[in-house]
Amino acid sequence: MLKFEVHKREKNTMARLGLLQTSHGTIETPVFMPVGTQATVKAMTPDELKDIGAKIILSNTYHLYLRPGHELIEKAGGLHKFMSWNGSILTDSGGFQIFSLNKLRNISEDGVEFISHLDGSRHFIGPEENMRIQNALGADIIMAFDECVPYPADYDYVKNSMELTLKWAKRCKESHKRPDEQALFGIVQGGTYRDLREESARRTVDLDFPGYAIGGLSVGEEKELMYEVIEYTTPLLPFDKPRYLMGVGSPDALIEGVIRGIDMFDCVLPTRIARNGTVMTSHGKLVIRNAEYAEDFRPLDEECDCYACRNFSRAYIRHLFKAGEILAARLATIHNLYFLMKLMEKIRQAIKEDRLLEFRKEFFTKYGYVY
Ligand code: GUN
Ligand code: ZN
Repeated sequence: MLKFEVHKREKNTMARLGLLQTSHGTIETPVFMPVGTQATVKAMTPDELKDIGAKIILSNTYHLYLRPGHELIEKAGGLHKFMSWNGSILTDSGGFQIFSLNKLRNISEDGVEFISHLDGSRHFIGPEENMRIQNALGADIIMAFDECVPYPADYDYVKNSMELTLKWAKRCKESHKRPDEQALFGIVQGGTYRDLREESARRTVDLDFPGYAIGGLSVGEEKELMYEVIEYTTPLLPFDKPRYLMGVGSPDALIEGVIRGIDMFDCVLPTRIARNGTVMTSHGKLVIRNAEYAEDFRPLDEECDCYACRNFSRAYIRHLFKAGEILAARLATIHNLYFLMKLMEKIRQAIKEDRLLEFRKEFFTKYGYVY
C-alpha cells in the first residue's frame, strides 16, 4: 500500500511538500532516509532511530541476499520483524552494489553474474531473481533492478546500459508478485547525457510505476553537473508521484535537490563519516579527533539538541574516539543523523513559508559553502 499526495508547492522553486503513506506509517516529504545496508543502521537501535525522528530507512537487497539470505529473513517474518523496525523500509535492488563491489562480473541481457565479495562464491541475479528476493524481504518500497553506470562513460555505453535498464524495469514489473503490498519504483538512468536522460525518463514513466528514482548520479561527476541533470529530469516525471534521488545526502545536495523537485534521498555519508569522527554542524564539518578539541567543553554543535549534544562535550567525544571506544561512533552517528533530520525539517518549514531560496542562502553562509 502506498499513497502519495503533494499538498504544497513552493512559490519560487520546484520544491514540494508531500505525505507518503505506507502500511508502516506516514512520512513527510522531502525526506532523508538513513541507510541500514545490513538490516541495521550502523550503531543505532530502532528506538534511537525513532527518537531522532526517522520514519523510513533504506536497506540493501544485494547484501541481505548474500548474508543472511532472503529465505532466512522471510522465515523470520520479513525484514521489519527480523530487525524489529516497525517504521517503513525501502530496499534498493543492488543495481549499484553489484557493480561497485564486483570487479569480476558479467552483464548480459538476462542479468548479472558475479562473485560474492564475502566468500568468492558465484551468483546470478536478473530482474526476476531480484524481484523474488525483494518480495521475500518484504520492504514497503522496492526498487527496479538497474545498471548504475560510473562516470565518465562514453555515450554508446550509457545508451546501451539505459536500454538494458528499461528492459529490466519492464521485467521487474511483470515478475513483481506483491504489487498491492510493495510499491515498485522505476529508476531513470542515462548518465550525464541530456537526450538519454530524457528518453529514459519518458520510457520509464510509460511503464507506469508508483514512484520514480533518479539513479546514476553522485558517481564522480561535478556537483553542478549533477544539479543540471536533476533540473531537467524532474519536470519529465509525473507531478503526483514521489521522486527519489538515489545515493545523495550531503547537506548542500539535499537543499539543491529539493529546490529541483526531489522528495526522497538516501546516503551512507552521515553514518559513515560519523564512524570516522567527522560531524556535521551548523557551521560546517568538524573533525573531532583534531587536537584543537582536546579541551573544548562545548557540545558538537551548540545549536543541536540531540542526545549527544545535550549530554557530552567535544573533549569527551574526542577522548572516546582516541581511546577506540564504541560509544564514540554511536554518539557521532546519533548526532549526524539528527542533524540531517533537522535540516529536512527546516527545509520543509521553508517550503511552507515560500522562503526556500532565502533558507539556502542563510544555511550556506553559515555552513561555509562558497555560494
Ligand atoms: N544508489 C545510488 N545510485 C544508484 C543507482 O543508480 N541505482 C541503484 N539501484 N541504486 C543506487
Ligand atoms: Zn547533536
